[in-house]
Amino acid sequence: MSNLLKWLGIGIGSLLGIVLVAVIGLYGMGQARLNRKYAVSVKLVPIPVDAESLAEGRRIFQYRGCEACHGEDLQGLVYLDNPAIGKVITPNLTTGKGGIGTSRTDEDLIRAIRHGIRPDRTPLLFMPSTEFYYLSDGDLGKVLAYIRSKPPVDNEMPPSKLSATGFIVMNVARTISFLPAEYIPHDQDPPPPPEPGITDEYGAYLSISCKVCHGPNLSGGEIPGFPDEWPAAPNLTSGAGSRLPDWGEQGFIAILRTGENHGRKINPNYMPWTSYRHMTDDELRAVYAYLMSLPPMEFGNR
Ligand code: HEC
Ligand code: HEC
Repeated sequence: MSNLLKWLGIGIGSLLGIVLVAVIGLYGMGQARLNRKYAVSVKLVPIPVDAESLAEGRRIFQYRGCEACHGEDLQGLVYLDNPAIGKVITPNLTTGKGGIGTSRTDEDLIRAIRHGIRPDRTPLLFMPSTEFYYLSDGDLGKVLAYIRSKPPVDNEMPPSKLSATGFIVMNVARTISFLPAEYIPHDQDPPPPPEPGITDEYGAYLSISCKVCHGPNLSGGEIPGFPDEWPAAPNLTSGAGSRLPDWGEQGFIAILRTGENHGRKINPNYMPWTSYRHMTDDELRAVYAYLMSLPPMEFGNR
């Protein structure tokens, strides 16, 4: 072998070695993040039993997006099936076959919803507890009442599982929150929730999930970590070029209720209006009031 070939061989060999070490390192990091145990003390909440609270619980379950991810009968769904990431399944929340309803205490459910943590204290995948950490005790209690009231559904599914590359992707694609539990201040109480009413404060409480896509300051733009074919999220502040002021309160309510803006249909896979349409008029008025109260920003100023 000529010297050149020999050095080339050593060069490629060490490069492969470095890549291999990096891959093993990232994989190990992913495993460590998934196996980490979180110590949280869970505060129980009163769970009502009256029919009105159950109906409210259902509505909250719908407008907070739980139903879209867990299914109308709480039977569980395939949330994500992508070979590069893995298969993520939302569990069957009922007491039927394959359901977690019988094995979970109220404390387990609250730990999952508010903290994104399993009964064994490891973090749940993609369960957006960063939003539900802020749920009031009243709202959470009604949601639990609703979950517990559902008839059993038999639906046995395998547990969620990341693929080998998923363990690596989760460390590289930092704009995607694989483990929401990592972002929650578990040892702090959430701020006291605002009283329901047509107020900016209550509107902010109802708009927590909008920030995932419309940006932390709601000025819209490309959604980081989402597939390229997704449209940009529009500006929800009243800054230059925003359509929010023109829609007016009633126009805004109509868009979120019907998923239609002046005849243009809005795809609920991108913009989950099929969840938000379950808000009452007063709740949507609070959301509009909150959005109009925000500092006007230019589009996409995330
Ligand atoms: C964006 C989709 C999404 C939304 C919205 C969502 N969930 Fe989940 N949820 C998940 C996924 C995914 C899992 C399972 C994660 C896993 O297997 O690691 C999960 C797990 C859970 C669990 C844990 C069950 C167990 O194993 O102990 C409970 C309870 C739960 N969700 C309740 C809710 C409630 C209540 C809401 C609304 C307040 C909600 N979820 C909203 C995706 C979602
Ligand atoms: C999962 C991402 C996502 C979430 C969560 C989300 N949006 Fe959107 N929203 C979008 C996208 C993407 C569009 C643009 C859709 C299009 O152009 O078809 C959009 C469009 C809109 C529109 C404009 C519709 C139009 O005709 O231009 C309004 C109003 C809106 N969203 C309000 C909200 C509010 C209020 C919330 C929270 C209560 C929210 N969105 C939460 C992604 C999201």
